[in-house]
Amino acid sequence: MARSAAGILLRTPRLTMREFTAADFDEMLRLDSDPRVLKYINGGKPMPRSEVETIVDRVTGYYALYPGLGVWRASRRDNGAFVGWYCLKYCPPTTDVEVGYRLLFEAWGNGYATEGARALVDYGFDQLGVTRIIGVTHPGNKASQHVLRKSGLRDAGWGRYYNRRLRLFIAESSERSRDTNRSFRSFRSFRSFRFGGR
Ligand SMILES: CC(C)(COP(=O)(O)OP(=O)(O)OC[C@H]1O[C@@H](n2cnc3c(N)ncnc32)[C@H](O)[C@@H]1OP(=O)(O)O)[C@@H](O)C(=O)NCCC(=O)NCCS
Repeated sequence: MARSAAGILLRTPRLTMREFTAADFDEMLRLDSDPRVLKYINGGKPMPRSEVETIVDRVTGYYALYPGLGVWRASRRDNGAFVGWYCLKYCPPTTDVEVGYRLLFEAWGNGYATEGARALVDYGFDQLGVTRIIGVTHPGNKASQHVLRKSGLRDAGWGRYYNRRLRLFIAESSERSRDTNRSFRSFRSFRSFRFGGR
């Protein structure tokens, strides 16, 4: 997949997503030091510097290993401020492709998670041609579950991922094309009703 020199993956109306580099370490540390952000990830324990170093190494090495997939740094388009990250990547040890996000506490409540997740789901289906995208959340993480639903994933009950029992959400390209056809058909019937045409 072609990338700009700056490693930009995509832009949404308010966000830019680009590849992480080692120089982004401090931002990742800030994100992973906040107990509010980590509440449903690890029970709210700030991650030690060494763990964040390992994460940054893994994330920056991932783009070459699995072209098109990864974890991307997101910033606001209006002022460049770091917002957090979004991912579309394999959910280890499975071959399921997972959409995810982790945003700075200050950025919550603005619709950023949904805006970014929707863009990545579209990118996965339309650009990468994946046929199924999952999302997994702690059962208590209602905000994240809501984001997944708003991003087109349906509640699929429980699944075992990351060695934990988690809520599982799924979107499939077959369902998506059915939905698109359905909207297209209703658009056609709307047109023939409204404009008397086909
Ligand atoms: C989960 C997270 C990404 C949400 O980010 P966000 O930008 O605030 O999300 P959005 O604004 O796009 O949407 C959140 C939705 O959940 C709703 N919501 C928020 N808290 C909620 C709660 N406790 N119960 C139910 N719904 C809730 C919001 O009202 C909003 O819905 P609406 O747009 O219909 O009003 C953010 O809280 C976060 O980064 N948390 C820490 C990391 C994390 O948990 N990541 C997910 C791991 S699975």
